[in-house]
Amino acid sequence: MAVISVAIAGAPYDVRIEAGLLRSAGTHCRPFLRGNTALVVTDAHVASQWRAPVEASFVEAGIASEWLELPAGEATKSWQYLAQTVDWLLAREIERKDNVIALGGGVIGDLTGFAAAVVKRGCGFIQLPTTLLAQVDSSVGGKTAINTAQGKNLVGAFHQPSLVLADPLALDTLPPRELRAGYAEVIKYGLIDDPLFFVWCEAHGAQLLAGDHAARAHAIAVSVAAKARIVAADEKETAGLRALLNLGHTFGHALEAETGFSDRLIHGEAVALGMVLAARFSEDQGLMQGHEAHRVAAHVAASGLPAELRGLGLTCDGERLVSHMLHDKKMESGRLPFLLMRGIGKSFLAKDVDLGQVARFLDSELRAA
Ligand code: NAD
Ligand code: GLY
Repeated sequence: MAVISVAIAGAPYDVRIEAGLLRSAGTHCRPFLRGNTALVVTDAHVASQWRAPVEASFVEAGIASEWLELPAGEATKSWQYLAQTVDWLLAREIERKDNVIALGGGVIGDLTGFAAAVVKRGCGFIQLPTTLLAQVDSSVGGKTAINTAQGKNLVGAFHQPSLVLADPLALDTLPPRELRAGYAEVIKYGLIDDPLFFVWCEAHGAQLLAGDHAARAHAIAVSVAAKARIVAADEKETAGLRALLNLGHTFGHALEAETGFSDRLIHGEAVALGMVLAARFSEDQGLMQGHEAHRVAAHVAASGLPAELRGLGLTCDGERLVSHMLHDKKMESGRLPFLLMRGIGKSFLAKDVDLGQVARFLDSELRAA
């Protein structure tokens, strides 16, 4: 088993990674539970595939479990389901030293984590992430949130989990499109500061996507180790380091907004295309060599992810896409920090990007033949 420690000051925890972990979740969670009952929040899709084995593992460990099954989908990260989750926990007399368990993707992890952050001013939670995105990104680092009418993830808290169990076998039941979307976040770690891992992705990404458990476990471990290092050094995104994890997200967020946060372009796909655009814009600005930007686009495309802006069939112009960026949470005194690249594995935060140039660049990408 790979065990990665997330060394957050005052709140350290382990991420355990091994095929089959969900089937022994009860044993792993037991030391973190106060009584003999586990409270588990999940969604309907995940429950249909994974509730029975996880529940059985609790029984085997001598623990009863109570389950809150919420609807699957981004809309569940809402005030309505936050209230339902908090009320459900309060009705079960949860105490501060208890740990509620989140079994699911980033939606269930973010919602349950936020409920844990606010109930009785904070109780513990354990993440059992079941999507690749959640295993390599959202379950680690303690960002929790819900969406509101004004936008995504606008209400939330930093609240670290007590334990994370990532089981590569959970991904066997994940729809292929969701698996590919999560893989975008894996590629991201290579592009941020690990060029050798990007080379590994180029060589083994297809195996991972085809179901190879060893490749999945390796990619999860490398990704989690990278994220653990970054969040331990900059837990609350104040030192300019954690911001690196947003590579591709500024372009990606604009594309998600323009496509109405719909199935037309799911989050990981937007991040993938956003990273290609960040590479091409970096090339456009003379920061990155053309052949390196080409490698980024080629690997994204080879992974079945969108790598061409014109392929989205958008009818808007670059200025409109830039206007979506202006609502970004990362705006600082009217300026938008951008993640750019000096090469593969050489990402950096640029604070002086001219948004007019970004709009012109996007116009040329929208027109590219
Ligand atoms: P998700 O949780 O909606 O899961 C995607 C779909 O897959 C859902 O329909 C879900 O029911 C289903 N599913 C999950 N696991 C499954 C499995 N093993 N088998 C079959 N179906 C399964 O989406 P996601 O991509 O995991 O997470 C997206 C969310 O994560 C967004 O809300 C985003 O804002 C958030 N996020 C948070 C962070 C963070 O640091 N907290 C980072 C990145 C993304
Ligand atoms: N996913 C970005 C972060 O955790 O900071």
